[in-house]
Amino acid sequence: MSIQKRLILSNIGMIILPILSLFVIEIVLGFIFFVFLNRETDSRTIELFSGLRFFTLLLVLIVTNGLLTYFVSRSILKPIQKLSQATERIKQGDLDYSVYSNKKDELAKLSNNFEEMRISLKEARTLQDKYEENRQELIASISHDLKTPITSIKGYIQGIHDGVANSPEKLSRYLSTIYQKAEQMDGLIDELFLYSKLDLAQVPFDFEPLDLHAFLRDFLGELTFYQDDLEVELNANQNEQYLIYADRDKIYRAITNIMQNSLKYMNKKDQKIDVSLQSVKDHVEMVIRDNGLGIAPDELPFIFNSFYRADSSRNSSTGGSGLGLSIVKKIVDAHGGTIWAESKEKNGTSIYIRFKKVR
Ligand SMILES: Nc1ncnc2c1ncn2[C@@H]1O[C@H](COP(=O)(O)OP(=O)(O)OP(=O)(O)O)[C@@H](O)[C@H]1O
Ligand SMILES: [Mg+2]
Repeated sequence: MSIQKRLILSNIGMIILPILSLFVIEIVLGFIFFVFLNRETDSRTIELFSGLRFFTLLLVLIVTNGLLTYFVSRSILKPIQKLSQATERIKQGDLDYSVYSNKKDELAKLSNNFEEMRISLKEARTLQDKYEENRQELIASISHDLKTPITSIKGYIQGIHDGVANSPEKLSRYLSTIYQKAEQMDGLIDELFLYSKLDLAQVPFDFEPLDLHAFLRDFLGELTFYQDDLEVELNANQNEQYLIYADRDKIYRAITNIMQNSLKYMNKKDQKIDVSLQSVKDHVEMVIRDNGLGIAPDELPFIFNSFYRADSSRNSSTGGSGLGLSIVKKIVDAHGGTIWAESKEKNGTSIYIRFKKVR
């Protein structure tokens, strides 16, 4: 019941109850005086009767007023006290104190609005904690990935300094390792730069209609030109047009990162990469499938996370920072597309990307 209704009813009660009580008192006192005690209607009896009637009525007035005021104010004050307690708890950082109310009055509405505010505050805090955790992980990974090549560069320079590289061949080997480590750092810094710019949405995207089929034909032609031992296949329906809105350079970068993985995590002599295109309703689905190492099922859900490298890759000699696929994901997200992976250990990996088709 609304507060307004409650107040109106209690006011009506405060008028009606004493009036009714007056009748009841009149009848009861009359019965006691003139039937039960059988008193005469003389002036003393009437005076006593009137006095008693007045005091009883006064008592009824005080009791009904007091009770109604107590119950109505309690029904208003209790939720206010609960709300005030909640604000105090939230002020102290406790966001688990629920103020949900299943009643239907104005204060219940206020409590439930407050409850919604508490829930969104809690969600915002969880998200903020997650961001903070990610930021700390990111700093730790960056420091580690930069520290490793720097340590070996220092080691090799120290070696040259101490005369360990005592032959021209040794010196040349030391110098080329130093160069390779510096290149590795350069690559990592470039990837990091791109990753953080994509993360902050600071990379401009230049969207234009792009025929994915023609684009992939050129891309794979270029790839096989440099990798002649690689078997590449492109499957698509010749009669269909796979037109999407995309930033050509970013798509080039994304596909390069995926293909680099296919080549890097390859353990077979007959290296194979299959690329296929198909229309799925109003989307174009691209699948890049390799016959490489594959990814363990418990590692598959994390490969698009920044700095994530599967155990087998971390322990192998193949370099990498674990940013490649997270950059791909950011690029696909910026295109409004979706990306996921399927893999069978030892058999190979398929990366699926879906883009909205241009009509
Ligand atoms: N085609 C693939 N075959 C097997 N494992 C893969 C494949 N693609 C990705 N992975 C696994 O997923 C991890 C994350 O890939 P990602 O490209 O993000 O990082 P990376 O290749 O380790 O480093 P980067 O690409 O930054 O040089 C890899 O370390 C590897 O374990
Ligand atoms: Mg990679």
